[in-house]
Amino acid sequence: MATSERHPFLQGLSKHRDAPPTAVVIFGASGDLTARKLIPAVYNLACDNLLPADFFLVGFGRKPVSDEEFRGHAAQAVRQFSRRELRDDIWGRLAAKTSYVAGGYDERAAFDRLAAHLVQLEKGLGREVQPLFYISTPPSVFEPILINLGASGLASRNAGQAHGAKVIIEKPFGRDLDSALKLNATIGSVFAENQVFRIDHYLGKETVQDLLVQRFANAIFEPLWNRNFVDHVQITVAEEVGVGSRAGYYEQSGCLRDMVQNHTMQLLALTAMEPPVSLDPEAVRDEKVKVLKSIQPLGIGPGGDVTRAQYGAGMTGGKPVPGYLEEPGIAPGSATETFAALRLSINNWRWQGVPFYLRSGKRMARRVTEIAIQFRAPPGTLFAEGDRFDIAPNTLSFQIQPDEGSSLVLNGKIPGLETRTQPVKMSFRYATTFGSNTPEAYERLVLDAMIGDSTLFIRGDEAEASWRLYTPVLESWQAQGRVGLESYASGSWGPQGSLALLARDRRIWREP
Ligand SMILES: NC(=O)c1ccc[n+]([C@@H]2O[C@H](COP(=O)([O-])OP(=O)(O)OC[C@H]3O[C@@H](n4cnc5c(N)ncnc54)[C@H](OP(=O)(O)O)[C@@H]3O)[C@@H](O)[C@H]2O)c1
Repeated sequence: MATSERHPFLQGLSKHRDAPPTAVVIFGASGDLTARKLIPAVYNLACDNLLPADFFLVGFGRKPVSDEEFRGHAAQAVRQFSRRELRDDIWGRLAAKTSYVAGGYDERAAFDRLAAHLVQLEKGLGREVQPLFYISTPPSVFEPILINLGASGLASRNAGQAHGAKVIIEKPFGRDLDSALKLNATIGSVFAENQVFRIDHYLGKETVQDLLVQRFANAIFEPLWNRNFVDHVQITVAEEVGVGSRAGYYEQSGCLRDMVQNHTMQLLALTAMEPPVSLDPEAVRDEKVKVLKSIQPLGIGPGGDVTRAQYGAGMTGGKPVPGYLEEPGIAPGSATETFAALRLSINNWRWQGVPFYLRSGKRMARRVTEIAIQFRAPPGTLFAEGDRFDIAPNTLSFQIQPDEGSSLVLNGKIPGLETRTQPVKMSFRYATTFGSNTPEAYERLVLDAMIGDSTLFIRGDEAEASWRLYTPVLESWQAQGRVGLESYASGSWGPQGSLALLARDRRIWREP
């Protein structure tokens, strides 16, 4: 039996989703993301027979390495980072289709060499291939790459056809509204929007996609999914790790840019959006944009909707760890936030008056990403609070990672001769129902881009709507420096200001 027939996650993929002959060209071929995620993703697609029969992998980078050296680098990436072991037969077939082009990202002639290389591959094959460019470099070189893809004619290869050129762009899509508008303008001057795949790997996660299925394939939720029944929503994206070796990147970014503006907002959009008219990519993305545009501007300053903090020393995993300012590579007196908590109000018919609380941080008590929909409390007439009645509001939670699944908190009777109650949980766990060897987000997303399905990618106006909301906050924080920046102990759930944000509304954070 073929692997793809055995694994429930792969059912339906291979039959209906054929990609045309494709050459995936990775810019930033020696990079961290390429080794940890992209090459393993391509290898696992090969293992599942999901790559087109005519497939090429082309690395592009500044170092003058040979095809053979690049293949060695790629094989090592599979050995080290793939969820499956490197099998000589599968890797041998893929390696035979793997090559490398050296050049600078701002060097026009290098892109002509790349174009000639693709023509060579096509000649050997006897048919045209779809070029899929993957820009996996630091953002400082996004623009030169895009401009050279346009100037060399690579961006308009096979224009207007199903196997026309496509481009995957890594985050960040700008660092504020102005830079996002500028980047989108450059992208738009070279590619049509339907050629562009802005990646947010959160959307490739099984549980994030499951959220859409749970919402729209189960009739029981829709009548309750609104301000009449939902008290509030909490979204937590917590990391246990600190800044690690990424100080250079993180000092320029901070939590709001790194996590909240992109991943957390995607989770919010999928939770809050209206049912799309179909599963067509534009129908889904239209609804996401609508909900992002309905969010009220955030109140900044004391008593407002946002709070930020930086981790201090503490304990993680039973070990003492230093504070952010003591980490290697962090500027003395840095004002970079490692935690943010926010209260968002969506001003539409469905959600008016229902706060969405978001929090994200490094060095939190544990690594967890969760969306929790807390329903209104039942009227306290029958089971009034007291010793015998422990009644919790019904809460539906989606655990995105780790231990993927969902659960519903209900109130039940404790067995015994008198009526006592206790909250109980109904749970669904991916690992127990489907087994644990799930495809990685990047596998799904690279496959989708090859097929031309942009549902799980960010449209330009989505990115802009999110930056429009957060740019005033970022500007205000920059102006204030460390004024108003709280501290929290590593290994905790965040600062006092985060608790106060909910306490003002007589609510508390869950401990997910
Ligand atoms: N790493 C992750 O886990 C991760 C996760 C999500 C998103 N991303 C995004 O993915 C992209 C790539 O991330 P990464 O971690 O792989 O980055 P990286 O390792 O710092 O850089 C990737 C490659 O880009 C080229 N490069 C680096 N600095 C350059 C410079 N100043 N000028 C020109 N080229 C340069 C280098 O390739 P050559 O030497 O081969 O030319 C380098 O190996 C970034 O936009 C990042 O935000 C990364």
